[in-house]
Amino acid sequence: MDNMTPEDLKARVSEIKWHHSIDLGSGIVTPGQDNSPKKLQRLKLPASFAGKSVLDIGAWDGFFSFEAERRGAKRVLATDSFVWRGGCDWADKSGFDLSKAVLASRVEEKEIDVLDLSPENVGTFDVVFFLGVLYHMKHPLLALEKVASVARDFLVLETAVDMLDYKRPAMAFYRGDDVGRDFTNWCGPNPAAVIAMLKTVGFGKVEIVAGLRSPLFRLAKGAYYRRKWGHQFWSTVRTDRIVVHAWK
Ligand SMILES: C[S@@+](CC[C@H](N)C(=O)[O-])C[C@H]1O[C@@H](n2cnc3c(N)ncnc32)[C@H](O)[C@@H]1O
Repeated sequence: MDNMTPEDLKARVSEIKWHHSIDLGSGIVTPGQDNSPKKLQRLKLPASFAGKSVLDIGAWDGFFSFEAERRGAKRVLATDSFVWRGGCDWADKSGFDLSKAVLASRVEEKEIDVLDLSPENVGTFDVVFFLGVLYHMKHPLLALEKVASVARDFLVLETAVDMLDYKRPAMAFYRGDDVGRDFTNWCGPNPAAVIAMLKTVGFGKVEIVAGLRSPLFRLAKGAYYRRKWGHQFWSTVRTDRIVVHAWK
């Protein structure tokens, strides 16, 4: 990327459909619809990953993989399948490839489905990120079993949650594009279900580190998402997002 001028880079960035907002330097931040720096704050990651190996499952453009590297991880493996494989017409792997080259990153990459994760296929990792992926799983508990199989110690999970009126573990099932006009959304567990599933797959200690926002926040979000993307108002208001830290 040495011979690319800021103008060349700007032009290349504008050709890509971005998910993440990645600072590529020279005043260029990729125009993802995801406010990645704000999401990063909610994750409450440790300041340093020095000496740790990190697996980022469902990495997409790679913002969180590059952040783990920036925080000193000795090895980062970014994985994805749906977007990287060209499973949709709204995104592909080119954002990851360009960011990796521009940042001169050593993040490794592997196209693999969550359900194919195993110690044999990818090894095991000190830290695993499972961010924004659980609700895309048709088989959420099986997916978490696979995630747990490659996690040696610490898991950071971020997910949409639903069924918020229930205290007991409960999970909504989505058909078609019921939620977020996105046919790749399959399930909406409530926070109790996320905790129960993580304990079931072998995490001894599970903590919600960023929890539910107020009903007023969710109403405002419902109105905003409907105006901006045409999302169904009540399905947005009924859902929220949480961040969980879990240890083996
Ligand atoms: C909402 S995005 C989250 C991206 C990123 N982790 C974040 O939090 O911003 C979901 C990602 O999971 C990936 N994904 C969906 N189903 C998957 C599967 N079965 N196996 C691996 N990755 C999958 C998608 O390709 C996409 O990159």
